[in-house]
Amino acid sequence: MNPPDLRTEYLGLSLAHPLVPGASPLVDHLDVVRQLEDAGAPAIVMHSLFEEQIETDWRGVDRLMLSHEESFAEATTYFPHAEDFALTPDRYLEHIARIKAAVDVPVIASLNGITTGGWITLAESMQQAGADAIELNTYFLATNPERDASAVEADITDLLVALCGAVTIPVAVKLSPFFSSLPNFARQLEAAGADGLVLFNRFYQPDIDIETLEVSPSLRLSDSSELRLRLRWAAILEGQANLDLAISGGVHTAEDAIKALMAGATTVQMVSALLKQGPGHLATVLAGVKTWMAEHDYASVAELRGCMSYRHCPDPAGYERANYLRVLQTWVVPS
Ligand SMILES: Cc1cc2nc3c(=O)[nH]c(=O)nc-3n(C[C@H](O)[C@H](O)[C@H](O)COP(=O)(O)O)c2cc1C
Repeated sequence: MNPPDLRTEYLGLSLAHPLVPGASPLVDHLDVVRQLEDAGAPAIVMHSLFEEQIETDWRGVDRLMLSHEESFAEATTYFPHAEDFALTPDRYLEHIARIKAAVDVPVIASLNGITTGGWITLAESMQQAGADAIELNTYFLATNPERDASAVEADITDLLVALCGAVTIPVAVKLSPFFSSLPNFARQLEAAGADGLVLFNRFYQPDIDIETLEVSPSLRLSDSSELRLRLRWAAILEGQANLDLAISGGVHTAEDAIKALMAGATTVQMVSALLKQGPGHLATVLAGVKTWMAEHDYASVAELRGCMSYRHCPDPAGYERANYLRVLQTWVVPS
């Protein structure tokens, strides 16, 4: 039997296979980018450039914070300084060009922000620098009780319209899982110009230090248990809008990647696994996917994709309230 055909299309890009290193500082270093390509990465997603970096005169903010250091000492602990970001906007654009020159695979630049300010025009410079697509990360927490869900959604669609107006390359939106009606919102994003969705942002949960009464930020890398939230929503969204779905969050093993494809993902992004195990882990997971597909007679990723989505799986109730009832009712309390 022929080896399985792993090719996939994502955001109009033809990729050799679906396992893509997701946005992370790994790609800030050219030698690591080359290692990722050597491990088989079919595309490179860049670390984000943040709205705050573009919109703010950082020297001014730094001066402001220093002048208030006595009265607002805590401000210096939570507000990042210019040098905390790996790349300034100019350096970021240069880095796109450097990565493009160093590897043969498509490069997806990443913009991270939430307002429709002038910062979004930087997307045009990203395209000019050689980006093949843009991932728009809308990391946002709704904390204002005056703003309803539709206002929050409109912020994101307005931002997307502005971005899509600035570029001709494809755009994916990286979302949080917290929307009242994600399938409806996905269609709104499609209408606003999105070509794909990245499911999901991973929220870095702050902790409370009960001794110092401080809210302490913490970054914990994921494990495979975080995949399930993504599996459910990819399965539900598959085929509901004309959008490519990328799963980001909790993909560590070949089994994880296969589940993500079965749920309906077009690509599967990996970050924590590569940070923990190194860029070469991509090749290990890819080999595992290939072997599994061959052993189970799957001829192509296209055949695998979506076979367990809400539309296609034998028991769609498994993704719904019915499953919740079943799970709760079948729990046996040990006597
Ligand atoms: C150290 C670190 C830096 C990250 N930087 C970015 C970023 O700049 N932009 C972005 O969209 N996501 C960023 N992410 C989130 C990842 O792209 C990914 O969505 C998340 O880690 C979940 O995937 P994983 O379970 O494979 O780690 C970062 C994650 C980590 C751990």
